[in-house]
Amino acid sequence: MSNDGVNNGRRRLLLGATAALGAVGAVGVAVPFVQSWHPSAKARAAGAPARVDVSKLSPGEQVIVEWRGRPVWVVRRTQEMLDNLPNMNDRLADPDSNRAEQPEYVPNTPIRALNPEFMVLIGICTHFGCSPTYRPDIAPSDLGQNWAGGFFCPCHGSRFDLSGRVYRAQPAPTNLVIPPHAYQDEATLIIGLDPEDV
Ligand code: FES
Repeated sequence: MSNDGVNNGRRRLLLGATAALGAVGAVGVAVPFVQSWHPSAKARAAGAPARVDVSKLSPGEQVIVEWRGRPVWVVRRTQEMLDNLPNMNDRLADPDSNRAEQPEYVPNTPIRALNPEFMVLIGICTHFGCSPTYRPDIAPSDLGQNWAGGFFCPCHGSRFDLSGRVYRAQPAPTNLVIPPHAYQDEATLIIGLDPEDV
C-alpha cells in the first residue's frame, strides 16, 4: 500500500514531507517537519477509519493523517527516544496519564502506545486547540538546553514530551489525546477502530 494513496475508499492525507530536515540526538535521523494543517471539507465530513502503512515511516519521522476532520499524528520513535521517556517523569504534570483522554487498552506507562515504536496522538493542543509542532531536535536554541524532543505549541507555549505528556506549569491542562486505534497487522495501523473491532 502506498503511503499517500487511497485505500478501499478510505481517504487519508499524509503530510509528512516538508522542507526542513533536522538531526535527532546522537542517531542523526532525518525528520520531516510538518508545518501546517488544512483539512478539506470533504474529509471533515468523513468519519471512516483511516489506515496508515507504518512500515513506510523512517525512525524519527512523523506523518499526519486526517481522521474525522482532525489531525492524527503518527511518530515512529527511535530506541533513544523510548529510553528517555521514563527520565521525563519529574518534569511532567501527569506522567502516568491519570487524567488523560486515551483508550483503556493503551497503557498509561511512559510509552503510552500499543506498539512502543509508534506514537499515535490527536494533534490538537488541550489548551485552546492549536496544533503543536513536532520538535524532535535535542536542546535547540529556541527551546533551551533541557528540551529532550517532543511537541511545542506555538500559540501559548505548551510543551509535551514524545508521548504527548504535558510538562508541569503549562497552559495546556492535560496530556494530548490518544484516539481509538488498532493494528490489523504489523504494518497496518487503523485509526478509529478498537482492537476488538479489527
Ligand atoms: S493552544 Fe496550545 S498552548 Fe494554548
